[in-house]
Amino acid sequence: MTADSAPKRIAVIPGDGIGKEVIPEAVKVIRAATGRGGKKLAFTDFDWGADRFLRDGTTLPADAPEMFRRDFDAILLGAMGDPRVPSNQHAADILLGLRFKLDLYVNVRPCYLLDPRLTPLRDRTERDIHFVVFRENTEGSYVGIGGNFKKGTADEIAIQEDVNTYKGVERILRYAFEYARANKLKKLCMSDKSNALAYGHDLWQRLFKKMRLEFPDVESSHQYIDNLLMQMVRDPAQFQVIVTCNMFGDIASDVGAQIAGGLGLAPSANIHPGQVSMFEPVHGSAPNIAGKNEANPLGSVLTGAMMLEYLGMKEEAQRIDSAVRAALSEGKTTADLGGSLGTRETGDWLANFVAK
Ligand SMILES: NC(=O)c1ccc[n+]([C@@H]2O[C@H](COP(=O)([O-])OP(=O)(O)OC[C@H]3O[C@@H](n4cnc5c(N)ncnc54)[C@H](O)[C@@H]3O)[C@@H](O)[C@H]2O)c1
Repeated sequence: MTADSAPKRIAVIPGDGIGKEVIPEAVKVIRAATGRGGKKLAFTDFDWGADRFLRDGTTLPADAPEMFRRDFDAILLGAMGDPRVPSNQHAADILLGLRFKLDLYVNVRPCYLLDPRLTPLRDRTERDIHFVVFRENTEGSYVGIGGNFKKGTADEIAIQEDVNTYKGVERILRYAFEYARANKLKKLCMSDKSNALAYGHDLWQRLFKKMRLEFPDVESSHQYIDNLLMQMVRDPAQFQVIVTCNMFGDIASDVGAQIAGGLGLAPSANIHPGQVSMFEPVHGSAPNIAGKNEANPLGSVLTGAMMLEYLGMKEEAQRIDSAVRAALSEGKTTADLGGSLGTRETGDWLANFVAK
């Protein structure tokens, strides 16, 4: 990390599909918010993604994690995934590679309704949908341990291991509890499937029960993941902080994103406290709308605000947040949110707003 007065060094990886459209808009808005006497940022672009992979086979260079640790304060990433790479190899190498090799163990996914017109739930307001999902980001079923036997035959066996370690579960639970305490949030819900996953999720249960004793000021509860998803739709107001494993967090945060206005609006952060961290919108590369100037850039723009906040630029982050709220209330959005602007025009509008 650089000294406070030095420019913050941002690595920009737009990736594939709409990542290449929405990330430039986020950078545009971030530049506008940090201009005029704001703290300086230095952006460096990386062209990693399907085009580069198909051209020369590059995914995540071996020295990339070390380079990011040494030379950057944050990474802003778009999305990975391209129909021309059915194996998804480059996406797994780059995205999961960065999460695992930089040990970004906290995936933060806020689900805040910014405008009541955006939720598909009846009679819900901003007060009802205001929670954050903490997803364990370095373990679970996503570690890629497993294999096939007799692949492609009727006798095939496919094994996908689910890894849960004491250290990994302990640290994500602790991060969520500490976040709740620091933000004076009373309600924390841990979600697992310990009734069926008697080993891995029993570890979650034991560590949760141990940790809640350390945080008597936080009202902690437990819900199985199937119930949690149902409760998020039935009564989202009961949640403030949700903490869960890698796969369940992936799924729960998409449900959360939808009830808070849709994937196009949802930001996220992959954090290792005190170290270089990575910020990305929740959505994927959306090949169905890529290249049409239709993608909603607001998720990426709000991701940029999360990044600035992480880098200590609270006021600049707040300006971006206010601009997004204004765009929503004035209908200056893309078609998925009912507006008539394109991706670039939405970015221009926001950049003008924050620069005022
Ligand atoms: N973090 C990531 O990089 C990430 C996350 C999810 C999916 N993916 C990849 O993205 C590709 C497509 O996956 P998918 O279709 O399941 O998910 P997706 O998020 O790309 O798209 C799902 C749906 O939401 C819409 N959508 C997504 N973002 C939008 C935006 N900003 N504005 C307007 N509409 C938006 C899409 O048009 C699509 O209808 C796949 O290759 C997948 O592996 C990558």
